[in-house]
Amino acid sequence: MTGELSPIDKAKFVAAKRAADFVEDGMRVGLGTGSTAAWLVRCLGEKVRDEGLRFRGIPTSTRTAQLAREMGIEVISLDEAKWLDVTIDGADEFDADLNLIKGGGGALLQEKIVATASDQMVVIADAAKEVEHLGAFPLPIEVIPFGWQTTQALVEETLVALDVMGRKATLRMNGDAPFVTDECNHILDLHLGRIGNARQVAMVINQIPGVVENGLFIDICDQVVIGFGDGRVEVRDINAGTVSEDQIEFADDENMFQDL
Ligand code: 5RP
Repeated sequence: MTGELSPIDKAKFVAAKRAADFVEDGMRVGLGTGSTAAWLVRCLGEKVRDEGLRFRGIPTSTRTAQLAREMGIEVISLDEAKWLDVTIDGADEFDADLNLIKGGGGALLQEKIVATASDQMVVIADAAKEVEHLGAFPLPIEVIPFGWQTTQALVEETLVALDVMGRKATLRMNGDAPFVTDECNHILDLHLGRIGNARQVAMVINQIPGVVENGLFIDICDQVVIGFGDGRVEVRDINAGTVSEDQIEFADDENMFQDL
C-alpha cells in the first residue's frame, strides 16, 4: 500500500511511473538497476499486462533481468538488441548538467555499456539525488580481483593530483566477503567528498590498470525525471533545454504495492 511507503519511495515510484510513458510499442529499452529502476520495471510490467504494451527489455543486471521476467517483460541481451531506443535508470547523484554518479547498486559497468548504446538515457530519481557538485556519494569503480589492493593504492595515489577533496578508497563488502559484481569483479568506493572536474576524474581513473570502469556518467544522460513525495514530477531535458511538471495520481490499492 502506498500509505506504508516512505516519502522517498513515493518519490521514486512517481518518477518511475512518469518515465514508463517514454516506452512505446516496438522499442528496445535498457532497464536500469536499483530500487527506483525496480519501480520502473513493475510499472512497465503493469503496462504490458493491462495495456498490451509490447517492447523488449535489455536488463543491466541479473537482478533486473529476473524482476523483468517475473513482470512478464520480454528480455533480450544487448548483443541481440545491438542498439537501444532508450535506457531508463536510477542514479546516486545528478548535477545541473545531468552528469551522474552511479553504481550504488554495483551494476555500473553494464549500466554504462547499455546507456551508451542508447539513443537516449533517462534518469529517474527522487529530488534528494540532485547535487551542486558530484562527490558526496562515494564514487564506485569496478576493479578486477587480481591485485585489487595494488589497484587501490594506485588509485589513491592518482587522486592526489586530481581536483577532489578526499582520496580514500574502500573495498565494498557483502557481509564478510568482498562484493562481487555480475562480471565477477570487485567495487572500490572512492570517498572524494567533492569532485571539482568530473570529466577529468572519469578519464584518469579509467587509465589505471585493473580499473574496468568508473561510476561517473559524463554527457550520457539526456533527461531526468525527478519525483517528489507528494506525487509531483519534474522532467528536465538537457538537449531541448525544457522543464515540465506533472502530477502523478496513484491509488492506495495499486496492485504493485501489494506484494512488497
Ligand atoms: C545501481 C545504480 C542505481 O541506479 C543507483 O544506485 C540508485 O539506486 P536507487 O534507485 O536504489 O536509489 O547505479 O548500480
